[in-house]
Amino acid sequence: MVNKPYILAIESSCDDTSAAVLHGTRLLSNAIASQAIHSQYGGVVPELASRAHQQNIVPVVDVALKKAGIDVSQIHAVAFTKGPGLLGSLLVGSSFAKSFAQARNIPLIGVNHLHGHLLAHWVSDKETENFENQFPVLCLLVSGGHTMIVVIRNFLEYEIIGYTIDDAAGEAFDKCAKVMGLGYPGGPVVDSLAALGNENAFIFGMPKIQGYNFSFSGLKTSFLYTLRDQLKTNPEFVEENINDLCASLQKSIIDALMAKLKRAIRNTGIKSIAVSGGVAANSGLRSRLTDLAHKHNLTLYLPEKAYTTDNAAMIGMVAYFHYREQRFDSLDAVPQARMTVGEF
Ligand code: KG4
Ligand code: ZN
Repeated sequence: MVNKPYILAIESSCDDTSAAVLHGTRLLSNAIASQAIHSQYGGVVPELASRAHQQNIVPVVDVALKKAGIDVSQIHAVAFTKGPGLLGSLLVGSSFAKSFAQARNIPLIGVNHLHGHLLAHWVSDKETENFENQFPVLCLLVSGGHTMIVVIRNFLEYEIIGYTIDDAAGEAFDKCAKVMGLGYPGGPVVDSLAALGNENAFIFGMPKIQGYNFSFSGLKTSFLYTLRDQLKTNPEFVEENINDLCASLQKSIIDALMAKLKRAIRNTGIKSIAVSGGVAANSGLRSRLTDLAHKHNLTLYLPEKAYTTDNAAMIGMVAYFHYREQRFDSLDAVPQARMTVGEF
């Protein structure tokens, strides 16, 4: 065991093949190969994703090592995303990591993908100080597959206090974008068009859900019905109103997220908040969170946009804390398609 290990981390849970090298908690490189093939299908096709991972994994690892200026012989441990995700995709990363661990005779570390998102804010290419004194943090984890509010107690301990009972926030962005013909993934496109529109132009129904939980399927239906009704009288409705539709959709999703986050802040008394997952790249959400933090004197942790969507750097961050505790996996570790926050 060394104090500052060189860790090679692999992320392959969905449609991004990524590899990163860290020295302790300092990020040396983060390489990503995204898979454009899925956009023509309007969503990720699992079979195509695993095939593309298989093609990309060796070159991506090679780029990460080269960028970091590290030889394979210097790596102290190899980490991979264990789940949740698409099984065929996870298998590519886990098989690669297991072979690497066995060939180099180094520890293998399986990481929960959601745990990675939770620590994305701490990813940095600089030496970080006062690292351990920031907890508890209330984190809004919003991605294409998950939407939850998590209390992060320390780097390895956290608790989900609210989650979506149906669609994730990113899914709501993507599904509504798809019916507007904006391609996949639609979240980033909605974000940029929303900046040009009137967010109060349309109102979409939102269900009332108990506690800190979320629901986005009602919003999606309300959005679809609005389009269906308007298109009956005006076939150009979507094209003519695209900016206003995006702005109003984005506002509805953010309103729902902010309402529950505010409630959690009030009830828990936690003074530090964070956001993570792909939807954390959304400029509207980032500015609403910034305003909230300012108004209530909260500390806000916003991850760099590069580390909001799937990346291996965040997997490497988690792996470092596992390494410190010698929490290793054996070579018969099995990736899991379903896994929640808190499962290791
Ligand atoms: O975390 P992520 O890369 O993958 C999952 O683990 O799900 O998140 C992808 C999701 C997609 O739904 C995508 O549309 C959404 O994040 N997303 C955004 C933005 N950038 C990515 N949603 C809204 N605004 C954005 N700027
Ligand atoms: Zn993710």
